[in-house]
Formats: sequence, C-alpha cells, structure tokens
Amino acid sequence: MKVTIYRYDPDTDETPYLQDYDFELPVGRQDLMVLDVLELLKEQDPTLTYRRSCREGVCGSDGMNINGANTLACITRVSDVLRGGELRSGHRFRRSASITIRPLPGMPVIRDLVVDMDQFMAQYKAIRPWLINDEPPPAQERAQSPDERARLDGLYECILCGCCTSACPSWWWNPERYVGPAGLLWSYRFLADSRDIGTSERLSELDDPFSVFRCRAVLNCVAYCPKGLNPRNAISRIEGLLVKEA
Ligand code: FES
Repeated sequence: MKVTIYRYDPDTDETPYLQDYDFELPVGRQDLMVLDVLELLKEQDPTLTYRRSCREGVCGSDGMNINGANTLACITRVSDVLRGGELRSGHRFRRSASITIRPLPGMPVIRDLVVDMDQFMAQYKAIRPWLINDEPPPAQERAQSPDERARLDGLYECILCGCCTSACPSWWWNPERYVGPAGLLWSYRFLADSRDIGTSERLSELDDPFSVFRCRAVLNCVAYCPKGLNPRNAISRIEGLLVKEA
C-alpha cells in the first residue's frame, strides 16, 4: 500500500512536499488505525513528525486530513479509508488504493503534520469556557434536574481536536474575527447550562457581524466532527438567542 505524507521541516525545506512510503500491512493486523501506520513508518523514518497522546479518541491531539477528510488518526481504520467506509460523522471515504495524510487545513504548519493551534485556542479562550456564577454556592453543589443536565449532551463531548474549525471556509478567511465551530459549540455549552448566569454578557460579546453570523452553514463542521457532534446546531441556537435578545 502506498502512503503519501505531507512533509515540511522549516529548518531544512524551502517548500513543503509529499513523500511516498511503501507500507506492508503486518500479517494478522489487517485492521490497523491510521495512527498505527504512522507509528510503524516512524520506526523507519524517525524524522516523521505528528502529535498523538491517548490513542483512544479522547485527547484530540492527532487531528489530521486523511484522504481529504479531517479526522483523528487514532480512531480511523485503514480498512475504512481504503474500502470507502464511514466516519462517525457520516462522512464516507471514496474507495482508494492508497492513503494520503496532510496536516489540518487552514492552520499554519509547524512541521510535517503538526499545526499551530494558537489562534484556535485563542478563540476558545475568548468565549470564557467556564461557568459564570458569582452567587454564593449552596452547601453541597449547584444541582441540576435531569432535563437541565440533558441539555448539555452533544456539547460537552467536544475534545478540541480542531477538525471542524479547520474544515470551515469562514474560519479560513476570518480566523481572528469568526469564533469558529468548536469555539461556538463550547460557547453554547455554557449558554445552555442552567447553572451559568452570564447569558447576557456572553451574548453581548458575540453580538457583532463576525463572531457568530459569519457562519454560512457550509456544514463541513458536521461532516468532519470525529465525535459525531453538530456544531452548526449549536451555532443556530446562539443565532436564535442573539436575535431574541435584539
Ligand atoms: Fe488522542 Fe487520537 S491520540 S485523540
């Protein structure tokens, strides 16, 4: 199997290039993940650079573009990439005899498959991803009813891998002004939380032409979320709250 990988080392390369590797699937291991392939290739070529940590789809560190789809290498089966299988988001790969791996698009490349996520994290920080509530705490905890808790399902599971935001054309054009799908999903996670009393200030910080309304409902965020979440749905809820507030 041919594996093609985007390579770029700013210390030695004038421009990025694609490097081909011949990869033989080890006998008895027909169902490797793409991250396993990278790990085995790295044994041959220690200069190959990528991020990974948990290997379980939890830490979000190995977001990359695999045969055109942003996803996590550690939970993407080689067999699905080759045979045209489906991601959890519902995106279906085209059948292919080879695998091409590139860094997440729309973010500056630091080296090979590692991108600079500073701007992405700055937008996350800007939405203030914590509970705003300065009321004196009750003796035990700020309780929620089962219904109130259920409103957070589909929101709190985001692992900030960046696969949605880096697939978003509005983000490519306005990364400093448009919060992006991941940041807005997190913003709605706190707007929807019954224990948070910062709704008005959160909405006033988002009330401009770019922060939220730059979303054009392209839906790439939904197509490529490896956790199967729906950032566009959260964005439309925020749009509704902003219109109501106005
Ligand atoms: Fe942690 Fe893939 S290595 S999500």
